[in-house]
Amino acid sequence: PQKVTKVLCIGAGYVGGPTCAVIALKCPHIQVTIVDLNQARIDAWNSPDFKLPIYEPGLEDVVRACRGRNLFFSTDVEKGIQGGGAHLSTSSWRRGRLRRWRHRPRLSSKSPLCRAALPSRCALSSRQTPSPTAASIFSLTPSSLLRAPPSPTFSSLTASSSAPFRPPEGKDACAALAAIYANWVPTENILTVGLWSSELSKLAANAMLAQRISSINALSAICEATGANIDEVANAVGYDSRVGPKFLKASVGFGGSCFQKDILNLVYLSESLHLPEVAAYWRQVVEMNEYQKRRFSKRVVDTLFNTITGKRIAVLGFAFKADTGDTRESAAITLIRDFQSERAFVNIYDPQVVPEQIWLDLDEASPSVPLDNIKKQVRICGSALEACKDAEAVVIATEWKEFREIDWSEVYKHMKKPAFVFDGRLIVDAKKLTEIGFKVTTIGRPALG
Ligand code: UDX
Repeated sequence: PQKVTKVLCIGAGYVGGPTCAVIALKCPHIQVTIVDLNQARIDAWNSPDFKLPIYEPGLEDVVRACRGRNLFFSTDVEKGIQGGGAHLSTSSWRRGRLRRWRHRPRLSSKSPLCRAALPSRCALSSRQTPSPTAASIFSLTPSSLLRAPPSPTFSSLTASSSAPFRPPEGKDACAALAAIYANWVPTENILTVGLWSSELSKLAANAMLAQRISSINALSAICEATGANIDEVANAVGYDSRVGPKFLKASVGFGGSCFQKDILNLVYLSESLHLPEVAAYWRQVVEMNEYQKRRFSKRVVDTLFNTITGKRIAVLGFAFKADTGDTRESAAITLIRDFQSERAFVNIYDPQVVPEQIWLDLDEASPSVPLDNIKKQVRICGSALEACKDAEAVVIATEWKEFREIDWSEVYKHMKKPAFVFDGRLIVDAKKLTEIGFKVTTIGRPALG
């Protein structure tokens, strides 16, 4: 195959940014350009003081090492495409979005993609590909996107972290993509499989991980009702090497951009294949997650003597997991929406999520409530202690390391009494907090204090 010397990534978000920054780091001989139509996002990637639009441990160091050397960020999509090389696209093309993409004026016959003099060999790879997107793109590209270039080889690959797709027409493109990964991934870990196996592997991996969390969360409800301790149960179950100890932490519910979306894709796919029992099986993993969030906010209300109207609740953590500023599908959003609808006041603190993002998410979660009204009920705080001040309850929604190190005696002094703590992430020492005076409720355990 042709040796790749240039990579163009379309999309500078959570997948494109970090993935291509790593490609630039590991492949100094490849010039990596990441394009995005969002000017503010590109400006942030290019900011002189490295205030990047995404927080992930280690990312800034990678960008510092490569930016301006072989890593470039730009809004000039057309120029990027004309530059040739391997093209990676990271948008999540759901069915609807794909359709929109096809009909969007920018990407119609006048679009940069169509007009660009595509190189004779060009791989289009999507890392966020729901089934059967690769097939759709494949059938879409020759007719509606690729009029201009003289008979290009335009291959659609899905590069889920482990399994790129190899259509018969795209062997070279597939090998080229594998060669990029081979710069740092052992070749035996780069799998080459067919389109359906590739797409299904990605969906299955995420669905099975999410299923583990829903299983442990379902058990957490039984623990609360019986007096068992979910951590002890998970530990015991994980001792069996066939089950293994990882990914068995009960929580207030999983979030993130992949789990729910990929399971719903699997549900959709099963339904389209006339497999309703299979669809129902996977749907239940998502339903259990919704139930877990609902159950947790109900437990807060019940514990606070059946009403939280007019009460102040501190929510610690807004990101969907620790070590990210990403809030997509975060359980905190659902909890806060529930607290708002019960007419509580909410103080929020997260070490990484920016206030604009929090307002955007809360606005979207309650479409019938004007943002100004939401702002009367919700306050964003600069520290955990500030958020807990005058609150009647603290809810831990994200497992940030700094929440494990909170000075709870200090927090207790500033809270209204009785002071409640709801640990949705199993991170506090419930016994110690009870000794301080807190009334502690932990996922998967009966209440203490
Ligand atoms: C996931 C997959 O892990 C990754 O392989 C895939 O490429 C993208 O989707 P991500 O969404 O970034 O990654 O986060 P992950 O660490 O998997 O956590 C997902 C959610 O599950 C988070 O909300 C997390 O807090 C929650 N979780 C995870 C639990 O509640 N309990 C656990 O034991 C593990």
